[in-house]
Amino acid sequence: MNLIEAQDLSKVYHRGSEEIHALKGVSLSVKAGEFVSIVGPSGSGKTGLLNILGLLDDPSGGSVKVHGTDVTHLKEKQRVVLRRDTIGFVFQQFFLIPTMTARENLELPLLFSRTKPDPKKTESILEMLGLAHRGDHLPYQLSGGEMQRVAIGRALMNDPEVILADEPTGNLDSVSSEMIYNLFRELRNKGLTLIVVTHNTDLAKRADRVITIRDGILTENEQVCCPCS
Ligand SMILES: Nc1ncnc2c1ncn2[C@@H]1O[C@H](COP(=O)(O)OP(=O)(O)O)[C@@H](O)[C@H]1O
Ligand SMILES: [Mg+2]
Repeated sequence: MNLIEAQDLSKVYHRGSEEIHALKGVSLSVKAGEFVSIVGPSGSGKTGLLNILGLLDDPSGGSVKVHGTDVTHLKEKQRVVLRRDTIGFVFQQFFLIPTMTARENLELPLLFSRTKPDPKKTESILEMLGLAHRGDHLPYQLSGGEMQRVAIGRALMNDPEVILADEPTGNLDSVSSEMIYNLFRELRNKGLTLIVVTHNTDLAKRADRVITIRDGILTENEQVCCPCS
């Protein structure tokens, strides 16, 4: 069963009188439980594609289906609910609230889903992230890798079906990057679906499949075998 299915996506941006064709007919399907990497040079359309797959932006043409239902023209209210309940986002810049502790940052999404925090759940996620001893720390007291792990934990709080990550290790050293990918594999082995954009082709190969994008066109769709799962 495909969790996300994109058909013939196009995206045109307008900058003054200039038209920028950022996606030129992209089709891809991601099965539930799959870990997929998207690689490609800067400006190739990775972020635009991820934003459309994550229902943060509309395509100029084509369609996106989630669980077989076309969600391309969903009303904003339904889109917000689907995004909140199905998708967890992780970004290169972490986007933690600097005045909130790691624990409070984790629990932030519950505010929007009007769910009462369950301290046991928060602690178990902190534990899984290897951050049990960091719950009371503010972001500035954490390393980059720890901040990104908090951001991943925050993305997991509403029990999403899929994690979409845009260059999640772009600001991290190689050891922290390795830890993030170990965590991704762990989550994948627990049944989560992951779509991760990266520049790093070695890290990309830790996924089940690597999709390459160039000038808004998918050029490769390679099954890789992960020895480290
Ligand atoms: N809001 C926007 N307005 C105009 N052009 C944009 C906008 N967002 C992205 N682009 C252009 O679309 C192309 C693809 O961008 P993007 O998806 O961000 O690429 P990547 O993430 O692979 O670096 C680039 O040429 C970029 O300059
Ligand atoms: Mg980008």
